[in-house]
Amino acid sequence: MSLSAKIVTLLSNISGSSFVFTDEETRKNYGHDETEDYNFPPNVVVKPATVEEVSAIMKLANEHKIPVTPIGARTGLSGGALSIYGGIGLSMERFNTIINIDEQNLQVIVEPGVITQVLKDAVAEKGLFYPVDPSSMGSCWIGGNIAENSGGARAVKYGVTKDYVLNLEVVLPTGEIIWTGANTLKNSTGYNLTQLMVGSEGTLGIITKIVLKLIPKVNYNVLMLVPFYKSEQACEAVSAIFRAGIVPSALEFMERDAIDWTMKYVDGVSVVIKDEIQAHLLIEVDGNYTEVLFQEAEKITEVLEQFEIDEVLFADSEDQKNALWKLRRAVGEAVKSNSVYKEEDTVVPRYELPTLLKGVKDAGDKYGFKTICYGHAGDGNLHINIVKGNMIDENWITEVPKGIIEIFELTVRLKGTLSGEHGIGYVQKDFMPLAFSKMELELMKGIKRLFDPNNIMNPGKILPNS
Ligand code: LAC
Ligand code: ZN
Repeated sequence: MSLSAKIVTLLSNISGSSFVFTDEETRKNYGHDETEDYNFPPNVVVKPATVEEVSAIMKLANEHKIPVTPIGARTGLSGGALSIYGGIGLSMERFNTIINIDEQNLQVIVEPGVITQVLKDAVAEKGLFYPVDPSSMGSCWIGGNIAENSGGARAVKYGVTKDYVLNLEVVLPTGEIIWTGANTLKNSTGYNLTQLMVGSEGTLGIITKIVLKLIPKVNYNVLMLVPFYKSEQACEAVSAIFRAGIVPSALEFMERDAIDWTMKYVDGVSVVIKDEIQAHLLIEVDGNYTEVLFQEAEKITEVLEQFEIDEVLFADSEDQKNALWKLRRAVGEAVKSNSVYKEEDTVVPRYELPTLLKGVKDAGDKYGFKTICYGHAGDGNLHINIVKGNMIDENWITEVPKGIIEIFELTVRLKGTLSGEHGIGYVQKDFMPLAFSKMELELMKGIKRLFDPNNIMNPGKILPNS
């Protein structure tokens, strides 16, 4: 599909011609995120500056039935920002202001194009804490986090993005501007439009303003890296820690390859690991009373003694903590830099984690693929990277999807689901019938039709056959 010169002129009239781009380089640059190696360029990239401009663009697009894809920092892992059907790529980069940090109510009003880390730092300066920490927080934007309902390592104690969103200003596909809720911690008033928007991956509207809840800053933490001789035991230890009465602020799992590959990829981080070690848990407890933290850390080590582990490494400085987190957060990039890959974001109730890991390995053996698994074990959220390596193309195309289906079927049997924090987007939508009945999918399609009667808002995402 190509857009007429008339539409491009009308877009220029709305946002100014210096914020409307049709050159190939810009379109390509806005045609990808971090999902595999896909590139679906929009026909035109528009960079509006105000909610009124976004509204006018949506009215125009709706009238002419032009697809619109909201584009954030393009760090997504399910293809939410890809302009599958071309059309208008709506970059939210000029919505980059922290409007107000409300120290009285512990809230912040922010625009969607603010980098998550910038937001975290700004509220930290006021003694406040926005705990959500996706691995990409140094480059991803808060708007994209809301669109995908992003999580991160601290979610296990503090929750995911949805747990902090109180109210949203949204431009609907028809151009109307709405607020979804109220700036309150409680709200039992009607259907929850705020939470409907969270995780809707840009398919129901464009988020232009965000009200988030904050909490007081937490001052201390203890971080430990625990080597396990057996991967499955690392997974078993996860639920044992909670059953011992501890809620860690992070409980991350990394298979051996995940650490080895990442140590080669990042600078300045090295951990000595014995050959026989199969996996690690990275465990953090945090709080404001150090003596309590040490007691909790001790209790965790008591739990760990039931398992076959090597010596626990306690990070003894801020530098060492940062190095261990750098290592953990770079795993995804390290795998991507090594091989063509596919990423699954499975999540199960945490006690089922050992069964999930075993099922993943069995599927790999059956269909001939290698997996590197890591992720937020405390949440039962396992990132499964299927690496192509030197697998022949034919098997990659025919065998791997069969294995993915078996893995997803297993997650559903274990009462889990397809994605914990990366979303469905473009790459997982055909698997949705594994997780939802026809009736359940019809309800979702009905919601989509109500918001977006002409199916122009980020079409080709979430729902199969859309
Ligand atoms: C992580 C991202 C990929 O956990 O979700 O590193
Ligand atoms: Zn993750």
